[in-house]
Amino acid sequence: MLVLGIESSCDETGVALYDGCLGLVANRLHSQVDLHAEYGGVVPEIAARDHIRRVLPLVREALAEAGRRASDIDGVAYTGGPGLIGALLVGAAVGRSLAWGWGVPAVAVHHLEAHLLAPLLEAPVPEFPFLALLVSGGHTQLVAVRAPGEYRIIGESLDDAAGEAFDKTAKLLGLGYPGGPALAALARDGDPDRFRFPRPMTDRPGLDFSFSGLKTHALRTFRDEPPGPALAADVARAFEEAVVDTLYIKCRRALRETGFDRLVVSGGVGANRRLRERLVRRLDARVFYPRPELCTDNGAMVAFAGYLRLRAGERQPPAFGARARWPLDSLRAPDASLLAGEEAADVAAVPPDE
Ligand code: KG4
Ligand code: ZN
Repeated sequence: MLVLGIESSCDETGVALYDGCLGLVANRLHSQVDLHAEYGGVVPEIAARDHIRRVLPLVREALAEAGRRASDIDGVAYTGGPGLIGALLVGAAVGRSLAWGWGVPAVAVHHLEAHLLAPLLEAPVPEFPFLALLVSGGHTQLVAVRAPGEYRIIGESLDDAAGEAFDKTAKLLGLGYPGGPALAALARDGDPDRFRFPRPMTDRPGLDFSFSGLKTHALRTFRDEPPGPALAADVARAFEEAVVDTLYIKCRRALRETGFDRLVVSGGVGANRRLRERLVRRLDARVFYPRPELCTDNGAMVAFAGYLRLRAGERQPPAFGARARWPLDSLRAPDASLLAGEEAADVAAVPPDE
């Protein structure tokens, strides 16, 4: 089974082809970073328009990369949410239309499920069950994963997501957009011993996170310390260290509480080198994470998550929607009994946008 995956939830257009026998056979990405940079952040309307321009050329490129034709495609998966509604609707409209034109099924994929399953694209493949640390621009969650579609959120951010905190702190240090990778690069030159920032919510039980205070702490330090050439780098280092340490402490706690011995790391912040090193070196668990380009937004993870659901018989009715908000734990496991009939498939379909 060959599945076309389309990701368009935010500022990257990703298109990939996943083959049930061969694995990932094409993966194309167009980043909109240059378009949004001058505004210091993602402009939703510009994002949606650029997805329109990029998506079909990327589909052609992906087919060429894999040496396949459109007629080889057995199903289409697109990101159905959560994300920017205009951006999502581009992927949904194109994905649904291609599927209809080709006479193949389509499925709307949950963006966070796609992130969460991305480590399964790499060898060695983590076995279920596992603990997932999902750290993206919009979400920070600890998820107990029993099987695809069986998710229990056991901890999450009460305010800013980890990636959002990286982005906002980068901005106030004058680093602009996209902030996370720039802050991480600057932190490399910072003195790890100059400042020690708090590890929010680690001094009390529970698995939730709060990163917005850390951002304020960074701002205050940056403003109140005597200016100097090293100040921004030292603040960046202390901030990164505090986020990494907090995530590490909560992962350790979550592993203890669930009894799981495997941790899967995914989402854009999962590309952070220091976070990976800390988790691998210090946790008493096997740690799995995909290569950095599969941590940040991409079409491969959508193709793969869509493949699992299409293979189990899940289908979207011809009408399509997208959801700017979509709780991960409202998903149900892909169910092979859906193959029984179209009626069942319709019931299982994602409800249209609320
Ligand atoms: O998963 P993702 O690509 O998009 C969302 O679904 O949100 O995550 C993007 C987030 C951004 O906040 C970005 O600053 C952050 O991931 N990020 C990083 C790094 N690379 C990307 N944060 C810290 N260190 C990095 N190396
Ligand atoms: Zn994402």
